[in-house]
Amino acid sequence: MSEPPSAPRPPHGVLDLTAVREDYQATGLHRADLADDPLDQFRAWYADWEAVDPFDPAAVALATATPDGRPSVRFVLVRRVDHGFCFFTDTTSRKGEELAANPQAALCFGWIPLSRQVRAVGPVERLSDAEVDAYWEARPHGSRVSAVASAQSQPIADRAALETRRDEVAAAVGDGPVERPEGWGGYRLTPDEVEVWQGRADRLHDRFLYTRAGDGWAIQRLMP
Ligand SMILES: Cc1cc2nc3c(=O)[nH]c(=O)nc-3n(C[C@H](O)[C@H](O)[C@H](O)COP(=O)(O)O)c2cc1C
Repeated sequence: MSEPPSAPRPPHGVLDLTAVREDYQATGLHRADLADDPLDQFRAWYADWEAVDPFDPAAVALATATPDGRPSVRFVLVRRVDHGFCFFTDTTSRKGEELAANPQAALCFGWIPLSRQVRAVGPVERLSDAEVDAYWEARPHGSRVSAVASAQSQPIADRAALETRRDEVAAAVGDGPVERPEGWGGYRLTPDEVEVWQGRADRLHDRFLYTRAGDGWAIQRLMP
């Protein structure tokens, strides 16, 4: 039996994803369906997203940048949505240093199974000690111990050294309370720009951009 003809192979080491081609068949997003406030729109869409039962629904890509414009991006978990998006982290980390020097950030929720994306951009502020303490106390014991043991974003020799630090903290606190490190904190990104994106057939997607206008929001459709 002869071998079936094989597709031309890309050069060694190249991951060619050209043939990965999903069509986005959602029924679409109409201007009349949008909430006046993008955070209300977010909450409505978040309910749809939770219903998909993804792991982990709260994950979002957070982009920060140095004052001279070098960006960095990583996932965090959004823990509260009020008039902004709140997340928690080590404020002495790379993202914390960047936010201290340049308190602007962008979020991107990639809800691909729903053919949806939500982007938010705006200034970032530190959450109050009371807000951070409340969340810290809600974290499992092991997570609190690890946060004390880890100077986030700093190099460490190996895994064993990290686990030793963790074991030392665990032994020191025993079953007692784990004190929140000074540098562990939270931020709120209050958006002044939000874009909601709904994938459609043939890449003719629906996009709407909310921008602040006085006390409310202006909404424009963008080309895909
Ligand atoms: C799904 C997911 C959720 C994460 N959530 C958080 C979080 O809520 N807070 C946090 O500090 N790091 C979180 N991380 C780890 C960050 O992506 C990142 O590695 C860490 O915050 C250090 O980032 P930095 O060095 O840029 O400051 C998460 C990672 C993933 C993949």
